[in-house]
Amino acid sequence: MSTDTLRTEVAIIGGGPAGLLLSHLLAAEGIDSVVLETRSRDYVAARIRAGILEQSSVDLLTDVGLGARLAREGDQHRGIYLQFPEERHHLDFVDLIGRSVWVYGQTEVTADLVAARDADGQQFFYSISDTALHDVDTDRPYVTFTDADGTPRRLDAVAIAGCDGSFGPSRGAIPGGTTWEKTYPYAWFGILADVAPSTDELIYAWHPNGFALHSMRSETVSRLYLQVEPGTDPASWSDDRIWDELATRLGHGQDGWELTAGPITDKSVLPMRSYVHAPMQYGRLFLAGDAAHIVPPTGAKGLNLAIADVALLAPALTDLVRKNDARLADAYSDTALRRVWRCTHFSWWMTTMLHRNGDPFEEQLQLSQLRWVTSSEAGATGLAENYAGLPFA
Ligand code: FAD
Ligand code: DHB
Repeated sequence: MSTDTLRTEVAIIGGGPAGLLLSHLLAAEGIDSVVLETRSRDYVAARIRAGILEQSSVDLLTDVGLGARLAREGDQHRGIYLQFPEERHHLDFVDLIGRSVWVYGQTEVTADLVAARDADGQQFFYSISDTALHDVDTDRPYVTFTDADGTPRRLDAVAIAGCDGSFGPSRGAIPGGTTWEKTYPYAWFGILADVAPSTDELIYAWHPNGFALHSMRSETVSRLYLQVEPGTDPASWSDDRIWDELATRLGHGQDGWELTAGPITDKSVLPMRSYVHAPMQYGRLFLAGDAAHIVPPTGAKGLNLAIADVALLAPALTDLVRKNDARLADAYSDTALRRVWRCTHFSWWMTTMLHRNGDPFEEQLQLSQLRWVTSSEAGATGLAENYAGLPFA
């Protein structure tokens, strides 16, 4: 079968938040791109993942015309609750640093992006296979793939953006480089439930049985997490057991607070690891989002970091394509990695402060840390600054 050849300015591998937002930002600068995605359009739209947007992410989405539904349906939170036995403290980010966060699911961000790209006539290829990168160290890189109808295709470009998540092929197309990795000895059991949240803002709870988090998606949908052993089978926990354990860890009955249970509509277990790959650029290939780094979910940084990468990458690619000016492109990896490491540290710090690992010495350190963060303005301010997110460079 002969290969169909297409041409674009930026070939974007991956139609998750990083790839979709990059295509949107490039289009705003008049740069043409094609988005290649292995999954179907419906699968990408339904994937349940992150739920919290930091201030800079909201500002960027709003600035580029993606803020209308977010402003209507997103829920602005002033801060979070931190809890340990017998104590629950509110950290008010707005009072501490004048910044806040929004509850707005990744599914909603994706839906807004896909709608905007469709309206703009963005070229997508969904349900592709055999994605391969070629000649990325030349100024004529290209991607080959098989489209949904089984036709082999070649996409020529000025640059390739590897936005293909932690299992995509882009990272492997960078020879050498350094990776740092840490696997945590626990996992998160996440549920989605058709019940109004029992709290106005998120509760992060330290408990002798393990960490728990009460988050939410809307006025009628709650999202909750329990620390569990890695490899836990979601089907091995009954709904009653899940709600009982959440009630215990989140402090049901403490100072009159109650956790309301409801029908569970989704259950999943996610492993927890930190991963960073450097450099994030090789020749004309640029990595963004989970393709270059993974953080454990505590602190809600994954999606926000993908958005921050793309905020840097879009102007860099614009200069490269329009003016053949590679200064921003050459600086991209080092600039992006500074924020990546800040978020990697913050996510590790939140994770190790809140999860039980069975070490009695570390348990005392965790409680001491929690008391300090909830009683010292300096401690609380550090958490607030990282959680609500520093402004994009
Ligand atoms: P992705 O969203 O992974 O998108 C990459 C895309 O590339 C995917 O659509 C994939 O199908 C596609 N792709 C892969 N291989 C190829 C290929 N060969 N060719 C073409 N396309 C390809 N973060 C938080 O902050 N809070 C959370 O609660 C949270 N929960 C999560 C739960 C799960 C199960 C996972 C996996 C992640 C979670 N994250 C969370 C992280 C957050 O969702 C990610 O950081 C975010 O999705 C990163 O966006 P991305 O576009 O870089 O990667
Ligand atoms: C959610 C996920 C997180 O990792 C987090 O720290 C807060 C909220 C969520 O899915 O709602």
